[in-house]
Amino acid sequence: MNHPDTILTGQVLTFTGSPFQGDPTGSARLSEAVLMQCGRITATGTLTEMQAIAPSAQVQGQGDALIMAGFVDAHVHYPQTAMIASWGKRLIDWLNSYTFPEEMRFKEATYAADIAGRYLDLTLSNGTTSVCSYCTIHATSVDAFFAAAQTRNQRVFAGKTCMDRNAPEGLRDTAQSGYDDSKALLEKWHGVDRLSYVITPRFSPTSTPEQLEAMGALWAEHPDCLMQTHLSEQTDEIDWVKSLYPEARDYLDTYETHGLLGARGLYGHAIYLEERERDRLREVGGALIHCPTSNTFIGSGLFNTAARIAEGQRVGLATDTGGGSSFSMLRTMAAAYEIGQLTGTALHPAQLLWLATVGSAETLHMGGIIGNVTPGAEADVIAIDLASTPAIAQRHAQASDLWEAVFPTIMMGDDRAIRQVWLAGKPVA
Ligand code: GUN
Ligand code: ZN
Repeated sequence: MNHPDTILTGQVLTFTGSPFQGDPTGSARLSEAVLMQCGRITATGTLTEMQAIAPSAQVQGQGDALIMAGFVDAHVHYPQTAMIASWGKRLIDWLNSYTFPEEMRFKEATYAADIAGRYLDLTLSNGTTSVCSYCTIHATSVDAFFAAAQTRNQRVFAGKTCMDRNAPEGLRDTAQSGYDDSKALLEKWHGVDRLSYVITPRFSPTSTPEQLEAMGALWAEHPDCLMQTHLSEQTDEIDWVKSLYPEARDYLDTYETHGLLGARGLYGHAIYLEERERDRLREVGGALIHCPTSNTFIGSGLFNTAARIAEGQRVGLATDTGGGSSFSMLRTMAAAYEIGQLTGTALHPAQLLWLATVGSAETLHMGGIIGNVTPGAEADVIAIDLASTPAIAQRHAQASDLWEAVFPTIMMGDDRAIRQVWLAGKPVA
């Protein structure tokens, strides 16, 4: 049953264009109120205007909170929730020492359900309403995640992580079983309620060419699905890919020659791209997913957001939990800002907020559906307290416009800043 019509009042933020084109401050509009009906946003404007449309709607005043779309996290590993912040390793050692042993535990349905619920609760409390997650090789891990999201009525994207080599016994499928299991899960979950299946070969080092081929075939059979994988995250990894695929022109080519390059492809990290790779990604419209806290935490390197967007790439923003060191998209925006400083561009607050909402939603081909407070979109909305801690409040007190008001929360905020979350127009308890 739908929640009653609701009007929220506060500072309602709507993106009307991309803050990467022209003056960033011209990309957004503030309204006094937003109307949510039958799970969707139906209008923004003044309170009087909203009440004229829906006279019986409940009005919920949010003071001067910033009301905006819930954050969209375009690359996460929910099974890594319990091993986030594991010390001292770089990518390959980190996977072998911490990640794979933890992922092994998801064979057990009760453990998978426990972590799936824990993960979604943690991210919701951080204002993240949609995520695109890797699961483990186990079908149980996919079932657990979709079931937990379905209970919460969340729009999520996820898939079984396929690996048929360079992973421990117990964490490997085969080209055939990876295909068969993925297909069965896709048929079970894709398009059910707010759930979407994502074809998920982990990355070229843990798949044989036969498995990549099988994943490419599955994608060709289901072209409306997204496909997610990792690309050029660390230099050691790139060298390893070259040795495993000696014929490949570059890392991207290992995907391209197996049918895994496309507009609905999500390429995590993508830090060290050669010119041919950048050209192909741009031509095809594949999305690069920036994972800034992960790229610093695992010591991967600096993704140049401004340069990639300026050359025409589609870019989303993500925590990459638990390679990333936070569940918070505020912290993730802060890290993106800091990496921007190191790569020569101070990203504007409008650009950071856009990446965490509209930008990520567009990489998931969900623009207009999630990620913005705009008529017709699903009402996944958050209210942000822009003075949630004494440190933020004293800085916020000096702000003279919206962007100055929100930047201290981007840089210093956490789950304490998230005052309320609505999923499809209904408040999350
Ligand atoms: N590359 C392959 N698998 C992973 C993973 O789980 N996390 C990160 N950060 N990179 C990967
Ligand atoms: Zn990842």
